[in-house]
Amino acid sequence: MRIEVRYYSKNGGTKKLAEAIGKALDTEAKTVDAKLEKYADVVFLGSSVYKGKPDPAVTKFIADNAKNIGKIVVFGSAGTKKSTYPAIKSAAAGNAVKTAEMFFQCKGEFLFLNKGRPNDQDCRDAADFAKKQIKILGVT
Ligand SMILES: Cc1cc2nc3c(=O)[nH]c(=O)nc-3n(C[C@H](O)[C@H](O)[C@H](O)COP(=O)(O)O)c2cc1C
Repeated sequence: MRIEVRYYSKNGGTKKLAEAIGKALDTEAKTVDAKLEKYADVVFLGSSVYKGKPDPAVTKFIADNAKNIGKIVVFGSAGTKKSTYPAIKSAAAGNAVKTAEMFFQCKGEFLFLNKGRPNDQDCRDAADFAKKQIKILGVT
């Protein structure tokens, strides 16, 4: 069973979460610019909120790599808005890719809000979430 971690990050918050997940799963976290060379049963996909949406690079990653994605697990952060999960789920479905029911979301620093987030505790929570997900999804 193969696991991959991909993310898009403008200011480094999603990158921190991705690296914590990668470390927990013993997998190198890479940006969405790195295509999937092989099929992965589970792709942890870091997608945060920019002007209310995921960055187009994230949805492009899904479209370009659909045949190599078994299931997407979404993680990310936002200033105030909820997760990009619905947008990612919809983009994935449009490419016949499944999305896990659960996702990880935390606060992200934005203007004067949420200074220092995601912080170390957020990273630990993201890592715990990822470890639980691979058990739930039956990836060993
Ligand atoms: C250009 C830009 C636009 C953003 N737009 C929103 C937004 O519409 N709603 C929101 O809740 N947060 C918004 N944010 C906050 C980000 O979702 C938050 O800072 C997140 O942690 C960014 O992740 P990153 O550090 O990996 O880029 C925006 C941030 C940036 C830089």
